[in-house]
Amino acid sequence: MKKRCLVVTGGGDCPGLNAVIRAIVKRASQENDWEIVGSIDGFNGVLKDPRELRVLSNRTVAGIHVRGGTIIGTTNKGGPFAWPQQDKDGNWIEIDRSKEMLEILKEENISTVINIGGDGSQTISQNLYEMGLNIVGVPKTIDNDLSATDFAFGFQTAVEVATDAVDKLVTTAESHHRIIILEVMGRAAGWIALYSSIAGGAEVCLIPEIPYDIKKVKEKVEERTEDRRGFANIVIAEGAYPKHGSVVGQEVDEIGYHNFKLGGAGIRLKQELGDAGAQADIRVTILGHLQRGGIPCAFDRILATQFGVKAFEMVIEGKFGEMVAYKNNDIKSVPIKDAINTYNLVNVHSNLVHTARGVGISFGDLKPIMEYAT
Ligand code: F6P
Repeated sequence: MKKRCLVVTGGGDCPGLNAVIRAIVKRASQENDWEIVGSIDGFNGVLKDPRELRVLSNRTVAGIHVRGGTIIGTTNKGGPFAWPQQDKDGNWIEIDRSKEMLEILKEENISTVINIGGDGSQTISQNLYEMGLNIVGVPKTIDNDLSATDFAFGFQTAVEVATDAVDKLVTTAESHHRIIILEVMGRAAGWIALYSSIAGGAEVCLIPEIPYDIKKVKEKVEERTEDRRGFANIVIAEGAYPKHGSVVGQEVDEIGYHNFKLGGAGIRLKQELGDAGAQADIRVTILGHLQRGGIPCAFDRILATQFGVKAFEMVIEGKFGEMVAYKNNDIKSVPIKDAINTYNLVNVHSNLVHTARGVGISFGDLKPIMEYAT
């Protein structure tokens, strides 16, 4: 009987997930004694009745590396430790079904798991590993906010989408002599905003790592718009906030889903600029989930393929409780427990920030560039 390895995609989707799945299946097919099984919608496929488990063959995964999303689906709600269920009075509660899940995996003859997901999913991996499950993690995030890996797949694609948006907004801002604000994703990290500001040539880049002073933002855009023929493009990360202020978003506290959902930083900025007396016409674009969908760029396909091959080889080698990582241009493995809850934020003294300042991009603090020298 073949050994069976379960593949799970959890949390928000991200371009490159399918390339990882394909690489795992293709690599496993070169070993005669392995079968790869996909769980539909995260671990829900194992826990649902009837179960939703699909054997993945080379034929199933043919050509999927170019497709966004994940062919096995994902979820950022619930999970084995917080499964939503109605109690006898009809109230929704969360129950821990992790032990039951391990029993189901045994029953299905599944001895190993590859869990592809971000920080939340890898916390689940670590907890299951501590319960005795043979599990390997694969990091994914468009936010680039995991410090255990120099890059995760999905980020470069998100940067391409955001840069394309800046390019398009520059031409319309120029035609109408407007200030256009683009809000991008990234949670507490400003990577997508920083990369797309440099690549697209924005005038202002606002990131969570540098709380902004609205007067400085106004000064910068007015430098560009005072002759009424100018224009300015601002990229703001969803997690950016003013000095002495806080992030904009909404606390979501639903059964199986507890999160602070960021959103609205761009609209607030428009309001703040208006209140500060900015005269130009201001428009706001929220890029949203476009950053997460569609075709992964070549870099992300390649990185995802490297991650998939490595993850399956870690399964063969028995490197459980470890996560694949891209470090110093090499593919390595790191303990999952060291990888979770350690975030990669923009270093405000880095060369990238220095470069942005060097081409005149304002972070809403407008100090002379040399004050920021490392
Ligand atoms: O972590 C990826 C991400 O896209 C963040 O950039 C964003 O804040 C969040 O997920 C959006 O989540 P949801 O898909 O639940 O709206």
